Amino acid sequence: MTNQYHMQIITIDGPAASGKSSVARIVAQRRGAIYVNTGNMYRAMTWAVLQTGIDPNDQEAVRQAAAGITIDSPVVDGQTQVSIKGRVLTQEDLNSDPVNRGVSLVARVSEVRDRLVADQRALAALGPLVMEGRDIGSVVFPDSPLKFYIDASEEVRASRRRAQGHTDQVAERDRLDSTRKTSPLVIPEGAIVIDNSLLTLEQAVEAVLNRLP
Ligand code: CDP
Ligand code: CDP
Repeated sequence: MTNQYHMQIITIDGPAASGKSSVARIVAQRRGAIYVNTGNMYRAMTWAVLQTGIDPNDQEAVRQAAAGITIDSPVVDGQTQVSIKGRVLTQEDLNSDPVNRGVSLVARVSEVRDRLVADQRALAALGPLVMEGRDIGSVVFPDSPLKFYIDASEEVRASRRRAQGHTDQVAERDRLDSTRKTSPLVIPEGAIVIDNSLLTLEQAVEAVLNRLP
C-alpha cells in the first residue's frame, strides 16, 4: 500500500450510536468520496453466522463458520453495501435484535477481524474513502493523516438509539468492544476527538470538514 492511498482515506471511529455513520455519510458526500460503514461488514458476518444456527458465544464455532462466509462490498450511490452470495442485506437484516446482541461477540474473533480488515484495506483501490468503525484509524489505516474519533456521552448515545426506534443495548456492546483482546476500541494515535453530545448533526459534520485540508 502506498502513501497515496492513505492521503485519501478519512477514518472515523467511535462508540455505538455516537453519530459516526451519519457524520461519515455526509462528509463523504460533500468530499465526493465513497462512504464505507465497516460495522455493517461485522453485522453481515453475524447475520450469516446466525443463519447457520450457531451460538455467537461459541468462538470456535464462529471461527469455523466464518471461514466459509464471504462478504462482498458493491458500491451503490456512493456507498458500499454488504452482500453475501449475491444477496444485498437490508437495514432490517443488519439491525435486528439478534444481530445487535451477537455482533460484538463475532467481532472479537481474531480470524473474523483479519479477514474483514484485509477486505477493508482492499477497498482503498476504489479511490477516496470515508471509512467508519472501531479500529479504522488504529489498525486498518494507521498511517492515514486524516483521523477522527466521534464521541458522545452514554446518555446521549442511548437516547439517540432509542429515538431511532431500536432497543439496542449500546453500553453492553461498548463494554465488549473496549475490553476485547484484538483491536479494542481506542482513540487512535493522531486522531482529532470531537464530542458531539451537544452538537447538531450539521454542526458535527462542520467540525470534521473544518479540520480537513
Ligand atoms: O452503529 P453502531 O455504532 O451501533 O455499530 P456498528 O458500527 O454497526 O458496529 C457494530 C459492531 O461491529 C460494533 O459494536 C463492534 O463490535 C463491531 N465493529 C468492529 O469490531 N470493528 C469495526 N471496525 C466496526 C464494527
Ligand atoms: O453510527 P453510529 O451508531 O455512531 O450513530 P448514527 O447511527 O450515525 O447516529 C445515531 C442517531 O443520532 C442518528 O439518528 C443521527 O441522526 C443522530 N445524531 C444526532 O441527532 N445528532 C448528532 N450530532 C449526531 C447524530
